[in-house]
Order: sequence, then structure tokens, then C-alpha cells
Amino acid sequence: MSELAAKLEDLHTRFAAAVAAAADERALETVRIEFLGRSGEVTLVRRAIGSLEPAQRPAAGKTINEAVEAMEAELARAKSHLEERVFDQALATKIDVTFPSIAPLTGTVNPIRRITEATCAYFRRHGFAVVIGNEVEPDYYNFDALNIPRDHPAREGFDSFFLTDTLLLRPHTSPMQIRTMQQYRPPVAIVAPGKCFRRDAVDARHLFQFHQIEGLLVAENIHFGHLKGMLTGMCRELFGPDQSVRFRPSFFPFTEPSAEVDTTCPKCKGASPTCNMCGGSGWIELGGSGMVHPNVLKEVGYDPDVYSGWAFGFGVERLGLTAYEIDDIRRFINSDLDFLKQLQ
Ligand code: DAH
Repeated sequence: MSELAAKLEDLHTRFAAAVAAAADERALETVRIEFLGRSGEVTLVRRAIGSLEPAQRPAAGKTINEAVEAMEAELARAKSHLEERVFDQALATKIDVTFPSIAPLTGTVNPIRRITEATCAYFRRHGFAVVIGNEVEPDYYNFDALNIPRDHPAREGFDSFFLTDTLLLRPHTSPMQIRTMQQYRPPVAIVAPGKCFRRDAVDARHLFQFHQIEGLLVAENIHFGHLKGMLTGMCRELFGPDQSVRFRPSFFPFTEPSAEVDTTCPKCKGASPTCNMCGGSGWIELGGSGMVHPNVLKEVGYDPDVYSGWAFGFGVERLGLTAYEIDDIRRFINSDLDFLKQLQ
């Protein structure tokens, strides 16, 4: 046997043993590089051709090529065997489909959003449209057009976060009354939910950023009974039949007459004279309401002798406190998942 053939046979034997020992495709690739790679053992053998007599070179080259072909074929076979083995292993894996899974954490709707949607759904069913306004409004829409002239003391409670001399973060959703009436002729029936901002001190009932839902109905022959009927129906739907609702005479510049709407205190149910939710009164205020003031109707070009209407503005967090019987408004924004999850 020529020296070359002996070398190749030795190489081939070691190659076959390495291939047989390779446990996975990575190991097989290492073997390939070691023997057949660019600086592998076969390349070294090939280089030796240069030192042969020219006449012997073609035959030597042929012998090497045949050996390489044989090794490549073995490599391919070993590779497909390995693949089959991996596939068979996968098939043989037993899966217990009854094993309890880990439920993925999914987000959900915040209770404030849920109450807003439930309230809107009630009014939509009664023919109201839902409109969304801007959170920044000129003082004209926040005050002047709502019959609160400059220097009127009623501005005090609303005068909050000014961005310029005339632009402010809206303290209530009432500007949407004006914007709606300026855009549409009567009859109009809308609710306008959204964020509001006031410099209220934060306590169990107050946040400086909160949500309101505004309502407005203007048509011919609308009276206070319609208002009471709609708002009482809303409270029944959101709170159930046991929660009391009362209309308490009040004052707002943009309504006449005006009423504040109260409901049984969700915390003490009227039973605690020292309750920090209702201050011992047994009631909490949901918001204001009343018959739209003639000056407001005139401002938007509606004839107050022909049209009348009612309006209301409720705090969504207050509705939430009552609907979920929660003892502190701050819980809605504290991101305490253990608490929020209970309100699903
Ligand atoms: N905008 C009033 C507030 O935030 C609430 C309100 C009272 C709205 C009477 C109305 C209304 O639409 O008619 O305090």
C-alpha cells in the first residue's frame, strides 16, 4: 500500500470513529471542520501532493478525492440519522394535557373606565349621543358661556390650572354643553365623559384630577321631571334598587333651578356620625344638575321661549365609590392590583 493510501486509511478510520461518537449536529460539524475543513487534516494530506513526482500526482489527487467523497457521504448519513433521532425523541415526549397551566397576566379595564362605559351605555339606550371634548379649554367655554362672568364668585371653586391667561385645564365637562349647542340645532341629547382638573385638596372623596360625565338634553317642553326620571333610572341601573337618591336644592350659574344629586353614603350607609366619607351626613354628592339657564340658551342662539332643557355633571369616581362600595377615592389611582382585581 502506498504511503498516501495508508495515511488516508488511518485518517478515514479516525474520521469514522469521530463521526460515530458525535452525539449531536454541533459535534458532527466539529468533526467535519477537523477533517474536511479548509485547514483540516485532508487539506494537509492534499498539500503533500506537491512533493510527489508529477506523473504520480493525478492518481494521488484521485485517491484523495474518492476518500473525501466517501467521508462526506458518511457525514451526510450520520447527520440524517441524528435528525431522525431528534424527531423520534420529540415524538416520544409525553405531554400531560391535564397539567394546570400558569394563566398569563392580562390587563383589564380600570373600574373608572367601566363605570363611564356603563353610564354611557344607559344614556345611549335612551337616545343620547356620546361626545368627547378637549381637556384644555378657553375660559369662555369654562365660564363666560356658562353664565359665570369674570369676577363672579362662582369662578372661585373652578379657577384652577391656567396654561395661559385665558386657557386652562377644564375644571368640569360643562364646556361640552356649549360646544354641542353651538354645533347642532335642538333637539340635542348628549353625554360627555372625560378628565377634569381642580385644585381640590385630596381626601377620601376628592382628587385634583378626576373624571366627570356631563349630560344635556334640550328640546321643546322638557321639564325637571324628565331630569329626575333619567338620573334616578341611572342610579338604579348602576347601584341597584336599595341605594337612595335625593335631589337637594342648590345653585349653579348655568342652571335654574339647580339641584345637587346625593346618594346613600357607600361607606357607612348613613349609620356613622363620624364617617370620613360623608362627614356623618349619611349622603355623598354625585354631582350637580338643573334646568339649563335661559342665558346659556341665549348664548348659543337657542330661543329660551321655545326650548328648555336639563343638564347634569357627575363625578365618575363618586359613581364608582357608590357602585363598588369603596371607602376611599384614592384607591382608584393607587395601582394596588390586589384591590383593583376585586372589582373585576
Ligand atoms: N359643572 C358642575 C361642577 O363641576 C356640575 C354641574 C352642575 C353640571 C349642574 C351641570 C349642571 O351640567 O347642570 O360642579
